[in-house]
Amino acid sequence: MLTNQSHLFNLPDDITYLNCAYMSPGLKSVAEVGVRAIYGKEDPTTIKPSDFFSNTKKLRTEFRKLLNFSDEKDCAIIPSASYGLANVAKNLKAGKGDNIVCPEGQFPSNIYAWKALEKEKGVQLNLIAAPKESTDRGRIWNERILEAIDSNTKMVAIGHVHWADGTKFNLKKIRQRTREVGAILVIDGTQSIGALPFDVQEFEPDAVVVAGYKWLMGPYALGMAYYGEYFAQGSPIENNWMNRLDSENFANLVNYQDEYQSGAIRYETGESANFILTPMLTEALRQVNEWGPENIQSYCRSIAQEVQSELLQLGFQIESSTFRAEHLFGIRLPASMNLGQITQRLADARIYVSVRGNSIRVAPHLYNTSSDLSRLLEVLKASV
Ligand SMILES: Cc1ncc(COP(=O)(O)O)c(C=O)c1O
Repeated sequence: MLTNQSHLFNLPDDITYLNCAYMSPGLKSVAEVGVRAIYGKEDPTTIKPSDFFSNTKKLRTEFRKLLNFSDEKDCAIIPSASYGLANVAKNLKAGKGDNIVCPEGQFPSNIYAWKALEKEKGVQLNLIAAPKESTDRGRIWNERILEAIDSNTKMVAIGHVHWADGTKFNLKKIRQRTREVGAILVIDGTQSIGALPFDVQEFEPDAVVVAGYKWLMGPYALGMAYYGEYFAQGSPIENNWMNRLDSENFANLVNYQDEYQSGAIRYETGESANFILTPMLTEALRQVNEWGPENIQSYCRSIAQEVQSELLQLGFQIESSTFRAEHLFGIRLPASMNLGQITQRLADARIYVSVRGNSIRVAPHLYNTSSDLSRLLEVLKASV
């Protein structure tokens, strides 16, 4: 079992940071890599033509390890989740009469791309409402999603967990059902990958996008995407020279190439070798791989479970552990409680969580301790 890792971060002592779902604190090692890279450009001769390619390969290799797929070239460096999803939208084979299934309340990057398809192609976006029930909510929601997938469904676009309250979606069953109807499965892994195990061999997704600045512990403005067979011959949203065959040969670049490099490289963002951000995200992923997402789940469970039991006894609602993650969970308040007052008390106590609707989103990581969760409990207790 992992021990507390706060020594690897520089979080201020006088705050309780339970909001990795908003943005991870920077690892000291990642900052060091970034600073070195900034000064590296003072002498441009230190950046070699081969670095354009070795740099990106190192990052893709760490991402390949994390998601367990076989070829590093099946993934692409992207600047944001919305960029990765724009590549999906451009290549989705769907038209009038077809539908896309999403749970309601997805993060906007995982909605606007499909809303645009509604307008452009007449595809229907079918948002599956969260159940009103407080018990068994996760199970019922999963059932409703499965029921909504029909012979006109061309894609299910979903997170592994819901970004606002951590409800876990049963991707194995959803994959099975999408296969039955010939739909693709697209995962926004931004709120799970890095902290919750995700295995491409197990879930067999067609595409996965992940913004890098949360659970991948990377800098803002860089993320990763995996694209499977469905996208192998697709057309990318931009046409960067590095993504073409033989672009490593700088002397030959104006012998323009129609062919792309193999795998998913065609979907990679321009200037993917970003000599500052790419090595930073590589170091972040190296650390995440060293920790292991399953160990992050166990650690988060170990520091939060007692407080969760106590909150349940006090009348707060938390999804059962079968249908939620350990690194991100929602605490729904009893109807009688005043959310505004609690938000103020949390701010006064310098406890950082996110308020989403009528629930408080708590997102711990390895730098937290059970005392952090106890401080949160004290504020909530005092507000009952
Ligand atoms: C589920 C989810 N997806 C994506 C993002 C970020 O999207 P983008 O990289 O397009 O800004 C967030 C940010 O909070 C998120 O919670």
